[in-house]
Amino acid sequence: MKFLYALVFLTYSVSSEIEILRYPPTDPQPGPRKFIIMNGVFSHNYFIFFGGYNNRDDIYSDIWNFDLSTRKWSQAFSSNGNNPSKSYLVARYNGGGFWNYLRDEYCIWGGMSIRGQLNDLWCFHLTNFLWREVEVSGDLIKPRYRIGYTNWNETSTVMFAVFGGITIEHASYDLYM
Ligand SMILES: *[C@@H]1O[C@H](CO)[C@@H](O)[C@H](O)[C@H]1NC(C)=O
Repeated sequence: MKFLYALVFLTYSVSSEIEILRYPPTDPQPGPRKFIIMNGVFSHNYFIFFGGYNNRDDIYSDIWNFDLSTRKWSQAFSSNGNNPSKSYLVARYNGGGFWNYLRDEYCIWGGMSIRGQLNDLWCFHLTNFLWREVEVSGDLIKPRYRIGYTNWNETSTVMFAVFGGITIEHASYDLYM
């Protein structure tokens, strides 16, 4: 099996041409992995990812961002020394994520872990580098992974939608916002 390591940029402008550029590995550089959660964080001019897993079945709980001006990766560490792989925030893959520009946070939801499917929401503050678990209310979303997800803005609110995915029982067609 092959695991993706390469970073590729698709440049799409108003012309119909789409140019693909491969970025060679840099140092530091996240290792090969799959099923990561990745989103743009444009207030910091980078994109960011969380977790994923490799070909030795190690599930990750690290955070990396790729700076769009320097074109370099850097790893973000929790400033209170809490390694997210500890039990309170379990390593995972195939969850969802979004950037909450209102609070300067990167948030991840659900996914698969050694404890099975998840439905928790965690946010990482992008300036003070602290994780917090976010309390949710309303309809309960069953733990799941391999979801479809997206996010958008409504008036002073960041919206995050989750569709489908795999729960303990079956593939799902639930839609939650
Ligand atoms: C939401 O608004 C912020 C601030 O204007 C913007 O940077 C961000 O890209 C918007 N997100 C989406 C998904 O449109």
